[in-house]
Amino acid sequence: MQKLELTLAIIKPHAVSNPVVRTFIRNILKTKFIVVRTKRVTLDTDTACRFYQEHVGKFFFNRLTTFMSSGCIDLHVLSHVNAIEMWRRCLGPTSVYKGQFQDPYCLRGMFGISDTRNVAHGSDSQDSAEREIKFFFPEFSFYHWRLDDEEWFR
Ligand code: TYD
Ligand code: MG
Repeated sequence: MQKLELTLAIIKPHAVSNPVVRTFIRNILKTKFIVVRTKRVTLDTDTACRFYQEHVGKFFFNRLTTFMSSGCIDLHVLSHVNAIEMWRRCLGPTSVYKGQFQDPYCLRGMFGISDTRNVAHGSDSQDSAEREIKFFFPEFSFYHWRLDDEEWFR
């Protein structure tokens, strides 16, 4: 039996500030996923550093956290069977350049500007999805989302 999965999508500042990209992404989210929660926030650098703690010490850490706190971002909790992989497939590879060659119609391939300004974030596992959703939506109750899909659609 297939289970509904949750994932966190973050639309990065350069994508939020571009109305065409923002609308394009919103249409994908609305048609492909159940959008469970949405929130627009502006991070301070400290919060961006805490969110990206797994990347502390990497060469792009400073650039990434500075960029992520440079303007507002849109947070979306998405649900679907296999949501984590589905959203990451919509994004394409981390590297925009790779995306343009491997899958020109992925979001990063189409709208990415650099490896840092690569349009959006997606959780990479169930554990990170849970941590990331709790990070931005501490009041979120996971209980109702642990039902299998038959129960949910009954
Ligand atoms: P990572 O978790 O490796 O990629 P993904 O977003 O695909 O899960 O990296 C997190 C973010 O860090 C990535 O979206 C953009 C930034 N980043 C760079 O700026 N340069 C890089 O070389 C890498 C690997 C990541
Ligand atoms: Mg990642």
